[in-house]
Amino acid sequence: MKVGILTGGGDCPGLNPVIRGAVRKGISVYGDEMIGLRHGWKGLLEAVTMPLDLRSVSGILHRGGTILGTSRTNPDKIDGGYDKAKEQFKKLKLDALIAVGGEDTLGVANKLVKKGLNVVGVPKTIDNDLSATDYTFGFDSAVNIVMDAIDRLHTTAESHDRVIVVEVMGRHAGWIAVHGGIAGGADIILIPEEKFDIEEVCNNLKKRHERGKNFSIVVVAEGAQPKDTKDFVTQDKSLDAFGHVKLGGIGDQLSKVIEKKTGFETRNVVLGHVQRGGSPTAFDRVLGTRFGVKAIDLVHEKKFGNMVSLEGNRIVAVPLEKAVAKLKTVDKDLFDIAKVFFG
Ligand code: F6P
Repeated sequence: MKVGILTGGGDCPGLNPVIRGAVRKGISVYGDEMIGLRHGWKGLLEAVTMPLDLRSVSGILHRGGTILGTSRTNPDKIDGGYDKAKEQFKKLKLDALIAVGGEDTLGVANKLVKKGLNVVGVPKTIDNDLSATDYTFGFDSAVNIVMDAIDRLHTTAESHDRVIVVEVMGRHAGWIAVHGGIAGGADIILIPEEKFDIEEVCNNLKKRHERGKNFSIVVVAEGAQPKDTKDFVTQDKSLDAFGHVKLGGIGDQLSKVIEKKTGFETRNVVLGHVQRGGSPTAFDRVLGTRFGVKAIDLVHEKKFGNMVSLEGNRIVAVPLEKAVAKLKTVDKDLFDIAKVFFG
């Protein structure tokens, strides 16, 4: 078979292990011809490809990012985009395509399946907000980066008697904030799923300082919002091709209010794209590898329209439809555990 692979949306550690897994098994076991489509859906629409042989996937397991490049190109925003995608699929003589991405990329994959293309999905995102899989790869690497950052911020916060606000990624789901915050021992965690009361945040910080603590760490997801506000805090008004605003700035706003209301000297740290960079953790290398290998198996089982998924400790196939139907947000039980340590 001739099988294409593309990586779309925001990059994350673990993409290269997926590519390597699919290519290694595709070539060695199935005798496939594998090609990479460059920069997400742009690679299919413009037929920009690269050959993927055993040599091109050698030495990439530990490397962050994606050797294929990525973009947020959306066929929905291009005149005749889906017809063009179908045409190029045919011109490239592809038998199947493995699309690695989050809700946006897999949403497009799902639409292409409905238009008759043979596509299999692989769930990727540091945000861990895709339904129908217990975890996405990239998330564990991001959480470890957040945990390391909080560990470092603890020592400087303590030395200076400061509150440090740490802004992390997470538009609609606070998975990174909650896991990173619990692992790093954050004193307050604020997530998009639950609007926060600034008075309550400040009271919790005051209580903590009254019981002898001279510093605090507040983790805030970029999509978190104070009560009585309707909009996200954004960097500017621009939207990407999937209609997402550029989030950022809640940490800055929050730190200023905390300093004013509590009198504690406060600093703001934005972790930003550091969370998406660098080498994948062992967990993400293993998960990415398992996903990649399973994806090429699904291609040969002709299970198009499915996505590989982690269910417990097993890798299974689930309908793409199920994965993109709604975002997976932080469950209340987990957030309640985080709250035990607030203040
Ligand atoms: O979707 C993953 C993500 O990292 C979000 O957490 C974040 O809001 C967004 O991508 C940032 O996107 P960009 O790479 O376009 O700045």
